[in-house]
Amino acid sequence: GLRRATNVHWQALDVSKASRSQLKLQKPAVLWFTGLSGAGKSTIANLVEKRLNALGKHTYLLDGDNVRHGLNKDLGFTDADRVENIRRVAEVARLMVDAGLIVLVSFISPFRAERQMARELLDAGEFVEIFVDTPLDVAEARDVKGLYKRARAGQIRNFTGIDSPYEPPLAAELTIESGALAAEAAAERIFAYLLERGYLS
Ligand code: PPS
Repeated sequence: GLRRATNVHWQALDVSKASRSQLKLQKPAVLWFTGLSGAGKSTIANLVEKRLNALGKHTYLLDGDNVRHGLNKDLGFTDADRVENIRRVAEVARLMVDAGLIVLVSFISPFRAERQMARELLDAGEFVEIFVDTPLDVAEARDVKGLYKRARAGQIRNFTGIDSPYEPPLAAELTIESGALAAEAAAERIFAYLLERGYLS
């Protein structure tokens, strides 16, 4: 197991999350995109971030492929490694929310328990789970990176949807049926949700 630090205490600080985020006229939050590989998570998250950035909102996008090149480059795709991947990303997202940002998180994040853990790290209303609900056959037909083909051929093990599970959300704040909805329209829906719920003022 992990070594745990002992005799570590929490240090109280004077500048709060509220005072950091007020500078930007925004409500800090995590927009947590989950879905199969190739579902369209990153494409949609990228469009939403572009839109928020153009409005002067302070955002950051944590993307699976990118974070796995740095912070999480020691992790693979076993269940245990995915759990640790998501645990670290959830903690980083929490720090960024504390910094007052709107954080977009785009990871397969296949397990309900870890998404729930990420939600519980935050205050009420700060976690917006967005299920990019693209059926396996659609994602597989797109196969942008050629990974499904390799997984079917047995060249990649533990591939989500093939020989590793994906547990769909039971109560996501938003579900994007991306088979039917183009990325631009999906981004528009998410933006409208944020506007309506007061995240942007
Ligand atoms: S997870 O499950 O949340 O830890 O995965 P994540 O960090 O989002 O990484 C997913 C991207 O890694 C590539 N890849 C794989 N995905 C699933 N299963 C296996 N075995 C695998 N191996 C590599 C793949 O390109 C995923 O990218 P996206 O953007 O999701 O398509």
